[in-house]
Amino acid sequence: MGRTETVARRRSRRTRLRAIWVVTCLAAVGCGDPPTTDDRVAQGQLQFRATCAMCHGQDAQGSRLMGKDLRRNEFVAMRSDAELIEFLARGRSATHPDNQRGIEMPPRGGNPSLTDEDLAAIVVYLRSIQ
Ligand code: HEC
Repeated sequence: MGRTETVARRRSRRTRLRAIWVVTCLAAVGCGDPPTTDDRVAQGQLQFRATCAMCHGQDAQGSRLMGKDLRRNEFVAMRSDAELIEFLARGRSATHPDNQRGIEMPPRGGNPSLTDEDLAAIVVYLRSIQ
């Protein structure tokens, strides 16, 4: 009997400690805060490297045969965030009048699992390298 009580007491102390930890964490670190710009740049860079880098290079420097240099890129600079997200979602077909190399830029970089939210983070990353 005594043993069961002790276990129950220990368990409730552990639950209390966990609750205190969660409250402290929320207060000190602000776990509930929206992500900062730095977080979004890092997230966008991660997504970029996973999907876009194979054509545009690890650091968006472009490649001679595939994707263009996206650093200090005029197309990026001239467009709003919303326009860029729309462009990324659609891509640019090889026969599109704006296409310069006759090579397709696939919709969502060929990765349909990229959400509009992911594309928005990639745009934040692209802005950070202009
Ligand atoms: C399969 C290769 C490929 C992948 C993957 C790819 N792109 Fe591209 N992208 C291209 C090509 C090729 C062009 C240039 C087409 C042209 O000549 O007009 C281009 C063009 C662009 C442009 C327009 C640049 C300009 O100056 O006109 C942007 C912005 C861009 N890509 C961003 C991205 C992003 C962001 C991703 C990842 C979500 C991505 N691309 C994935 C091949 C790719």
